[in-house]
Order: sequence, then structure tokens, then C-alpha cells
Amino acid sequence: MNILIIGSGGREHAFAWKIAQSKKCEKLFVAPGNAGTIQVATNVDIKVDDFEGIKNLVLSENIGMVVVGPEDPLVKGIVDFFKADKKLRKIRIIGPDASGARLEGSKDFSKAFMQKHGVPTAFSETFTKDTLEAGLAYLDKQTGPYVLKADGLAAGKGVIITENKEEAKASLKEMLTEGKFGEAGDKVLVEQFLNGIELSVFVLSDGKNYVILPEAKDYKRIGEGDTGLNTGGMGAVSPVPFADAAYMQKVEDLVVKPTMAGLQAEGIHYVGFIFIGLMNDNGNPMVIEYNARMGDPETEVVLPRIKTDMVRLLQAAADGKLDKIKISVNPKSAVTTMVVAGGYPEAYKKGDLMEIPVAEKDTVIFHAGTNTTSEGVVTNGGRVIALTGMGRTMASAVRKSQKMARNIKFKKKYFRKDIGKDLMKYLEK
Ligand code: AMP
Ligand code: GLY
Repeated sequence: MNILIIGSGGREHAFAWKIAQSKKCEKLFVAPGNAGTIQVATNVDIKVDDFEGIKNLVLSENIGMVVVGPEDPLVKGIVDFFKADKKLRKIRIIGPDASGARLEGSKDFSKAFMQKHGVPTAFSETFTKDTLEAGLAYLDKQTGPYVLKADGLAAGKGVIITENKEEAKASLKEMLTEGKFGEAGDKVLVEQFLNGIELSVFVLSDGKNYVILPEAKDYKRIGEGDTGLNTGGMGAVSPVPFADAAYMQKVEDLVVKPTMAGLQAEGIHYVGFIFIGLMNDNGNPMVIEYNARMGDPETEVVLPRIKTDMVRLLQAAADGKLDKIKISVNPKSAVTTMVVAGGYPEAYKKGDLMEIPVAEKDTVIFHAGTNTTSEGVVTNGGRVIALTGMGRTMASAVRKSQKMARNIKFKKKYFRKDIGKDLMKYLEK
């Protein structure tokens, strides 16, 4: 079968790397891809939301399965576009339709969904321009830290957390009346602050059955010790030491099952990945958010641990046959370190020439923001390259990942040196 992956980040390189290993995969394409995906696939310069361009490619290359990496095309309805087209209708596409992607595309919708279907989550109230005064009065009655969330997609930047009440009020005003996050901020959720440690749980759904993939922990802030601005993710670890079998059973019973039942009750036929962002509040999983896709950089540690043939798994999801699959997981630890361009997540430079050594034993290099030029591989984004190390212990995986990160060369590179450090205490117990 010929396969197309849509996207251009580390997540999509990880999918390409894994799918290319399958005997079921004949020709592999990535649109638009990066300097890493080109090693295992053919890159095609089509934007992720150019549905007509994607259609032409799918038909001309006889593609049998499309894997959608990022949320944008899902929220914009790429799956609905396929289902409405006579020639595309039968082609397997991995990702939810627009109604399912609302789990990520609207925080107001996903909060209401969780409340309605009994999924544990922080209490929250939603405000609009017309109810700004009520929102300010609501904040007055709360104690900090205050959590404000723009309803729509804001590239991971739509959440403001502050201890300062006046700042929270000013932010609410800016979001609702000054368009701080554009349309995404037309509705704002004011949410109860949750204490604890975060965990990313991944579910692959066929609309009825599901499999739970290995869990991961992401490192979201730019600075060591989880300080500074939020980023797309600076590193990830899988497995996560505190997420033992008993905890994961709790997650399945309290979160995954009601989520799947809720989707069915709402008439949403969800085919694809559900990424559940959890806060572990003293052993109790609380849902912070849903995403309608895999996480990045979590995919760079989750896929290397999956031993099952990826095409077989995705095909089963598209065909409603996940009940026939039991996934096999490598017990080894995987750790990835994301090397970013200096300045990220604020302004940074693109186009710097890179030196990338060959991957050492038990390591995989996943390109994120890179591009191929006549001079060689250059940086092409804020998050540039993810270095995944595998080891029998988390500590050895960390060492391999960090060593590779040190060996990558380009101007003003930066990476966190504390990936996994906060989890060591769970291993010493
Ligand atoms: P989100 O875009 O909803 O994932 O939020 C971005 C980040 O803000 C999360 O990864 C958490 O670190 C943090 N966050 C979101 N909601 C809460 C909350 N209710 N309590 C504490 N931290 C939160
Ligand atoms: N790493 C977090 C995300 O993909 O949203």
C-alpha cells in the first residue's frame, strides 16, 4: 500500500521512520516533510491545509492510507473533505472528522463534553465579550493561581496562568475585548488550578474499539526546572515511572472508557489518535485537555517503543478492527531531547547550516524544523531536531539522548539538560 503522512515536524518524521519499517508499506510520501523524512520517504511540497493539492497527490500516486499529523487540517475538516468526495471516500484516513477534532479545537466544547460524560477535570466557567463583567466578578471571588484559556486553537500559547489577580483580570479583558489570541479568544475559560505532575496518554480509536499506546511525559517550558515560557515541548520520556499498571488502569477506567462512551453517545465516529493531557493530582488523573492527534515530541518516544507493525495497527483503526489487535511494547525506556533555535519560543533565526553526526547505537535522530538546501541541511523552525535514546534504564536513555543533543551543531542551539530529572525520585523509591 502507498501511504501519505501529512505534516513536517518531529512527530511526522517519527511516523515516517516507523511506517517505512513495515512490509505493508510500498511507497511512502510526506507532505510537506523535512530534511529527515526525505531519508525514508518522498517529500511533496503541499501545505497541510491544501486539501485539493492533497487530493491530487492521493489520486495520482494511488495512495491507500493518509495519516494526518497536526491538528490544523483535522479541525479544518480534512476528514470530512475525504468523506464527501466520491473518489476519496474509500481511502483510509487516520484522524477524526471536524466534529471529533473539536475535542481539541474548542476548549469550551471539550470541557462541556467532559462534564457531561463524567470525565474528571478541573471546574471552569466560560465567558465572552458580553459577559466580561461577570467574568471579572467571578475572578474576584477566586483565589490564585488563576488559569485562563482561550477557547480555540492558539498553537499551544492560549493558556495564561498567573498568581496575580489584577493581571488575570487584565488578561481576561485583553483576550475578550482586544483580540489577544484573535478569534481563538472570543470565548475564554477561567479554570480551577490543578496541582501535580503531568502525563500524556495516547489512545488509538477505530470509532468503537481502542488501544492504549505507551504513555509519556513532556517537558513544556523552555527553561530547566520547568521555568520560563511554554513551548511545543522540549523533551519527553516513556515509560513514565509514576504511571504504573495500577495508575494506568485508573486512567483507563476513569478517563478513557467514559471518553470513548461519550464520543459514541454524541454520535462522533472517532477514528484516530486521542491525546489526553492529564494532571496527576495525588494519584487521581484529572484531564487538562484533549488533542485530536499524537503529541510532539511524545511521538518520538512512543513510536520507538511500539513493536507492533504500525501499518497493521493503523489499518485496523481505519477498518474498525482494533479489537483484533494487541499491541506489543518494548519495555526499554525512551528519552528524547529537543534541540531548538536560540530565541525560541520567541523570535529565532532560520537557515543556519547544521552538522548532524550519524546516530549511535540505540539512538534515533528525528528531524523537526529542518530543510535540505544545496549547501546541506539547515534549520527551518524553532524546534529543530529531536534526539531519542533508548536504554534498559531511564538514566541510560537520558545519557544517550543528551550525548546526541550535544553533538548536533548549529549556531545558537539550545536544549534542556534536565529531561527526566524530575522523575528520578520515583525510581529511587
Ligand atoms: P493546555 O493548552 O490546556 O494543554 O495548557 C497548557 C499548559 O498549561 C498545560 O500543559 C499545563 O501545564 C498548564 N495548565 C493548563 N490547565 C491547567 C490547570 N487547570 N491547572 C494547572 N495547570 C494547567
Ligand atoms: N507536546 C505537547 C503537544 O504535542 O501538544
